[in-house]
This record gives sequence, C-alpha cells and structure tokens, in this order.
Amino acid sequence: MKILVTGGAGFLGSHICEKYVNESEENKVICLDNFSNADLFNIRSLLGKRNFRLVNGDIRDKDLLDKLMPNVDVVFHLAAQIHVDKSIINPKDTYDTNVTGTLNVLESARTHDPKKIIIASTSEIYGPAKYNPMDENHPLEAPHPYGASKIAADRMALAYNKTYNLGVDIIRCFNFFGPRQKDSGYGGAISIFTKRVLNNQPPIIYGDGSQTRDYTYIKDIVRAYDLVMKSDNKDHDRIVNFGTGVEVSILDLANKIIKIVGKDLKPVFVSPRPGEVNRLHCDYSKAKEIYNFSPEYTIDQGLSEFIDWYKNFKSEEWTKIG
Ligand SMILES: NC(=O)c1ccc[n+]([C@@H]2O[C@H](COP(=O)([O-])OP(=O)(O)OC[C@H]3O[C@@H](n4cnc5c(N)ncnc54)[C@H](O)[C@@H]3O)[C@@H](O)[C@H]2O)c1
Repeated sequence: MKILVTGGAGFLGSHICEKYVNESEENKVICLDNFSNADLFNIRSLLGKRNFRLVNGDIRDKDLLDKLMPNVDVVFHLAAQIHVDKSIINPKDTYDTNVTGTLNVLESARTHDPKKIIIASTSEIYGPAKYNPMDENHPLEAPHPYGASKIAADRMALAYNKTYNLGVDIIRCFNFFGPRQKDSGYGGAISIFTKRVLNNQPPIIYGDGSQTRDYTYIKDIVRAYDLVMKSDNKDHDRIVNFGTGVEVSILDLANKIIKIVGKDLKPVFVSPRPGEVNRLHCDYSKAKEIYNFSPEYTIDQGLSEFIDWYKNFKSEEWTKIG
C-alpha cells in the first residue's frame, strides 16, 4: 500500500507515518511537510527505513502534489495551520494553507484517484455549543479564522463527494493529546501545562478555567483513523466525530496534571483568549455505530502515560527547523 501523509512530520502525522511504516515493509509511506510546525525529532526514527520517504514541500504547491499522487492508494490529509491565535494574526496565510491547500489535495486526488482519501477536519468548526454533546449535525459557527478555514475545507471535501463522488472521509476529532505535541508557544494545553509543572511553574489558565474540552489520547486517535482507512462502509455521508464523550474543564485538567506530577502548585489565571469556545463535548455515537469505535484510554490513563513519556524525553533532542 502506498500512503501519502500531508503534515506527516507534525504531531498526529508522525504517529500515522510511524504506524504504517512499522506495520508492513510492503507499505510505502510518503511524508509531505513544509516544517512550519513540525520537528525532525518526530520522524527521526523513520528516516533510515526503506519504506519511508520524507518530502520537504508544501500543499500550496499543486504541481508537487501531482508529482507525488500517482499510484498512491491512501491519502491522509492532515497538513494545516492549526493555531487559532496565528489565524487571527495572519488570516490569509491560514486560508492559503487550510483552504487552497486542501483544494489542491482534492483536485490532485480527483485526477489520480487514490482508493482512500481521509481529511482531518476538526470539532473547532462547530463554534459555541448550541447543544451538548455535539453531533455531526451541529451548526458550523466557528468564530475565528482558523475555524472558518477548516469549515471551508470540510465543506469543499463534502462538495467533492457530492459533485464528483470522490469518496472522501471527513474526520472531525475533538482535542487530542500525547507524545510529540508541541509544549510551547502555540502547543497543546496538556503539553504546555506538563512542561510548566515539571519545571515547578504553575499552569497559566486563560479566563476562569471553566471552559471544557473533550480530550482523546493520541493512540485512540490513530486507531480511529485506521478504522476509517480500513473500512469498506460507504453507506453514510462520510463525516464522523471522534472523541471520548467526557468533558473536562481546563481548571480540572491543570489540577490533574499537578496531582499526577506531585507538585504543590496552584494555577494562575489571565484574561480569556479572543474567540475561545466555552464547551466542546463530543457525541461519538456515529463513530461507534459505523466503526465500532470506543476510546480505550480515560483522560487519567492518557495523562499518566503522556507524563511518563514527557519525563523521559530529552528536550535537546527536539530539532526545530524553519
Ligand atoms: N491537535 C488537535 O487537538 C486536533 C484536533 C482536531 C483536529 N486536528 C487536525 O488534525 C491535523 C493535524 O493536527 P496536529 O495537531 O498534528 O498539528 P501539527 O501542526 O502538529 O501538524 C500539522 C503539520 O502540517 C504541516 N504544515 C502546515 N502547513 C503546511 C503546508 N502549507 N504544506 C505542508 N505542510 C504543512 C506542519 O508543519 C505540521 O507538521 C490538522 O489538520 C488539525 O486541524 C487537530
């Protein structure tokens, strides 16, 4: 099986590449990434493998996609500018990558016709909750440019299904976390809190910490993508949420991390972030029905495994490029 992973050197992408490189020598994995938010560390263990190929390139380059796409069986399109704050500072850059880049992937796939095309959408497209938990029919009202760009990409994939019968699977994960997620700047809250707490610094919370998220451990997310990839079920609209169905407030999350690490710290509160959604709570009943998906990790199990990994990981191994 020949597999193209866009954003393959990022957090999720590196786990997806690793899974299929190690699963079989018959698999050939092409990792396409422009390293705008990637680390070489993420894919270092794969670099010497004969069935792994790294391409430093951009999804905004349609000619490059057309060179890579022939004979590809499966596309995981994960590349995106993922940061809400960056999208507020530079909406055009976010639009170019998330919308035009996705359009390039869809167009190239329409020409070269891989068997499976899986696109990473996100729960962020739903915006402020009209009801909870949120299912796939929840209105798409993301208030920030990141969410708006992901709505456009999600809708464009759906349009390619309806217009050209392309058969794209659109995956809307709620927040996920685990090894290799960025722990600084625009990284994930769990990585950032963990780094601070291990360094005896209190977690910093935007707002009062009552905002909730539905956090899935990365191993469950990789399993979810794999279930979709290996499924023959075409008897639905191919849009599916993945999450745990369990909400946790950011304040509880910070306190859980403090407790697991075993420090005597109290979170610090600062002004809320513009555009931040109050609640994200996943209804994954469709994923359960179609793919028999249920998360295997609770938040506490995921946090413990992640914190153990983090303690053993040496920060000097992280190599920032670009
Ligand atoms: N992390 C989460 O909690 C979460 C939740 C729901 C959905 N998602 C979606 O999952 C996907 C992967 O997210 P992630 O957390 O692994 O993010 P990430 O930033 O670690 O991975 C994205 C990768 O895409 C690359 N990239 C960015 N612009 C590119 C371009 N123009 N050309 C080529 N490569 C480019 C980055 O360098 C990065 O390696 C994204 O599409 C994101 O929207 C993430």
